[in-house]
Amino acid sequence: MMRNTKTKQSIIIGLLLLAAGIVIFYLCKSGNTRLVKPADSSTWHFPDTNTLVSTPGAELIRYGRELIINTAAYLGPQGIVKHISNGMNCGNCHLEAGTRLNGNCFAMVASTYPKFRNRSGKLESIEYRVNDCMERSLNGKKLDSLSREMKAMVAYIKWLGKDVPKNVRLKGTGIPEVPLLKRAASVDSGGNVYLKNCSRCHGANGGGILKPDSTGYLFPPLYGSNSYNVSAGIFMLSRFAGFVKYNMPFNASQKDPALSDAEAWDVAAFINSQERPGKLFKEDWPDIATKPFDYPFGPYADSFSEQHHKYGPFEIIKKGKKSK
Ligand code: HEC
Ligand code: HEC
Repeated sequence: MMRNTKTKQSIIIGLLLLAAGIVIFYLCKSGNTRLVKPADSSTWHFPDTNTLVSTPGAELIRYGRELIINTAAYLGPQGIVKHISNGMNCGNCHLEAGTRLNGNCFAMVASTYPKFRNRSGKLESIEYRVNDCMERSLNGKKLDSLSREMKAMVAYIKWLGKDVPKNVRLKGTGIPEVPLLKRAASVDSGGNVYLKNCSRCHGANGGGILKPDSTGYLFPPLYGSNSYNVSAGIFMLSRFAGFVKYNMPFNASQKDPALSDAEAWDVAAFINSQERPGKLFKEDWPDIATKPFDYPFGPYADSFSEQHHKYGPFEIIKKGKKSK
């Protein structure tokens, strides 16, 4: 009898400890972000484009969506509105017009901007953030905030996120993390991954494949003069690896990615070691201690080289950051 109550007691204590552990785990996980409530995106859906007809401002929102998908046709080297970008489309990296989970989607932009970002050291508006991608990812020029094109893209992005409450973190937004490798990412192995998995679409020289009328790309460039510049987010290996692992080869199933973690890091190393536009912004990272572990340009607050920050191994850099 005595024994039985004791066992019961220890089971209850065990369960209580487990519950406390789970709570502490989640608290720590969300500790360095102000968004504390993780939400399952399977219960949440992007608004249906078919409902756009009856939405106020529907025409502007639809134009914004069109600009995200076919940016080059309007703003590219042969654009019908302006010639201020490199021929890529926003949608090349923000898949399915910014609605693909784990495909760099726009779900949380409306609910989190204006947002303080370390790269600028400023509170950024959505317009500011869009122009960041214009100048870096599309290696182009800023759009006037009052232009119809900027208003349209912002209207579309806001409409996409209109049902996401503030302070909720949806899973699948932004770019997923790929577990760090113990070794540095290898440019050589990445070259083989590229030949095997990527070159058939992105071209033997990484330059992509133009549409027959050359107004834009059928397959966008990954390197060379028409690709993103070295100040783009995807120039950091972790961003590239995360995007590619869950989305490439094009439409790879996210549940069963085609690339291993190592292949994703290595192909990121290969592609981001090739020639591309070298534009740098001297006002970036006013506080150098906030540079991400894989930001490849010094000066740094630690003593690791640019080479080490670019290719890894990253664990040792991240450890140093945490202990500060
Ligand atoms: C070469 C790839 C690429 C292209 C092209 C691109 N972006 Fe981005 N964009 C990124 C990356 C990478 C991020 C940062 C994602 C992260 O770190 O989670 C980003 C972030 C953003 C964000 C902020 C998302 C957030 O949740 O904070 C917005 C808004 C955005 N891009 C808009 C655009 C628009 C509009 C265009 C076209 C004018 C565009 N992007 C073109 C790669 C790209
Ligand atoms: C079956 C064709 C195909 C294959 C294979 C493929 N891609 Fe892509 N990739 C695309 C298309 C199409 C897009 C643009 C998606 C869109 O606009 O919706 C894209 C976009 C990208 C982008 C973002 C845009 C840019 O140009 O920077 C990256 C990065 C990328 N692919 C990397 C890779 C890597 C690395 C591999 C190999 C592991 C690969 N892709 C394999 C078709 C492919």
